[in-house]
Amino acid sequence: MPLKKICCIGAGYVGGPTCTVIAQKCPEVTITVVDLSQERIDQWNSDNLPIFEPGLDDIVKECRGRNLFFSTEVDKGIKEAELIFICVNTPTKNYGLGKGRAADLKYIESAARRIAEVANNSKIVVEKSTVPVKAAESITAILKANTKPNVKYQVLSNPEFLAEGTAVKDLMFPDRVLIGGEQTPEGQEAIQSLCWIYKHWVTEERIITMNTWSSELSKLAANAFLAQRISSINAMSAICEMTGADVNEVAHAVGTDSRIGNKFLQASVGFGGSCFQKDVLNMVYLCECLNLPEVAEYWQQVIKINEYQRRRFADRIIESLFNTVTNKKIAILGFAFKKDTGDTRESSAIHVGRYLMDEGANLRIYDPKVSRQQITRDLTDSEDPNKVRDLVTICDDPYQAALGTHALVVCTEWDEFKTLEYDRIYKSMLKPAFVFDGRLILDHEKLMSLGFQVITIGKRLQRPNVHRPYATAKGVQS
Ligand code: NAD
Ligand code: UDX
Repeated sequence: MPLKKICCIGAGYVGGPTCTVIAQKCPEVTITVVDLSQERIDQWNSDNLPIFEPGLDDIVKECRGRNLFFSTEVDKGIKEAELIFICVNTPTKNYGLGKGRAADLKYIESAARRIAEVANNSKIVVEKSTVPVKAAESITAILKANTKPNVKYQVLSNPEFLAEGTAVKDLMFPDRVLIGGEQTPEGQEAIQSLCWIYKHWVTEERIITMNTWSSELSKLAANAFLAQRISSINAMSAICEMTGADVNEVAHAVGTDSRIGNKFLQASVGFGGSCFQKDVLNMVYLCECLNLPEVAEYWQQVIKINEYQRRRFADRIIESLFNTVTNKKIAILGFAFKKDTGDTRESSAIHVGRYLMDEGANLRIYDPKVSRQQITRDLTDSEDPNKVRDLVTICDDPYQAALGTHALVVCTEWDEFKTLEYDRIYKSMLKPAFVFDGRLILDHEKLMSLGFQVITIGKRLQRPNVHRPYATAKGVQS
């Protein structure tokens, strides 16, 4: 069922890359990505895209102005399209009923209402944003309550599984494409239209179709399972630190079991990003609403362990630095929630930074892709701006960040941190010089041979001729 015109509402981390790849793979289809934010659209139309994703710039350049357009003309985009992706944000609600857990569906609803208002012919509406189960039903209800003569709607669920930093690769070679729709002839026809798009580059066996509710729940389930693996290995890391086991060795041994698999077993300072916490909380809220308190509690624990891991890491820094960081300079290497992205949403670096600032530490922060303004904004949120101004310096390179500090704290696994000149860094720091590797990416033996005191997650390191910081009931080991 060939399509000629597609519109995407929401030009963010999902809408932008997804439509860029569709435009490249389907040159006969015209795709217009619309957004309310003029600034975002201007950036998509410039040489300086609003998001950093490896490989994305080249494809945008190839397609933009040919069959890919970015615009704030939302109504025009909707009117002209046969199929509309909804890719707006669905953040955790920070007010009212379900505050702190439920997904805020106000952007989804306003997009649906806009479609109902301006559409003058039939549309396939595709929910690509991550939503609670039955959100498609609400979209359908809004559309059908406002329908005009000769305008019919089919609502599909087509959740997106791309990860940031690898978005282009994930979109080009997806493990699977999931499409949910109504089990009616019209629903099946709409599913086939969306399948037609994906079949341009995805093999048929990777395109999975199912009912709408299964599709919506599968997205939440996939993210919850992934987050749960990280919390599981992070829980192991606490046991490793107490016992002398090495979390990397444990992850390797566990991951070589083909039933378990070796991915997503990297212990860390905790998972960040705009999705995992939000989607697990969304699931917790759903379970509470469904009167399934035991199931809600099970998933809530994934978040609790993540918070515990961040706090535990910050506490180890403080305790290792002789139980006080007040007025001490500490370099934070990496602020993004993972490497190869400039996104800081729910980044563990923000939490670790705030804990250290609460203790009066002076932070010297470096990240290769996160802007000064973004770092300041993230740390200022709910803090006194004067405190942030006094305590935080944002640096242009890692050497400048490390200068005159007591400690380096690695919060993001950027590759460039693996190959820094650590002998030069060591010489420029106060002694004893500490490294806290929150990502297990550095060569700890080499750092120790240079004289660093090295503390990492899930592993006790032997350090000759050094002071032994406090071993506490919390199990801090040096
Ligand atoms: P984002 O905040 O980067 O982008 C959303 C965009 O939608 C914003 O630019 C906003 O201005 C725009 N918008 C909001 N309401 C609008 C409206 N009524 N009309 C026009 N534009 C509107 O969000 P994102 O990271 O792209 O996430 C979008 C959805 O995809 C979320 O539900 C998220 O959970 C899901 N998701 C995200 C990722 C990811 O890696 N970021 C991966 C998979 C799924
Ligand atoms: C995630 C899902 O992977 C993706 O499928 C979904 O569409 C959106 O949410 P994203 O948040 O972009 O993607 O990145 P991801 O690679 O999943 O990493 C999330 C966080 O977990 C990062 O902070 C990362 O550093 C951390 N992580 C990941 C670990 O701490 N250990 C791991 O083994 C893997």
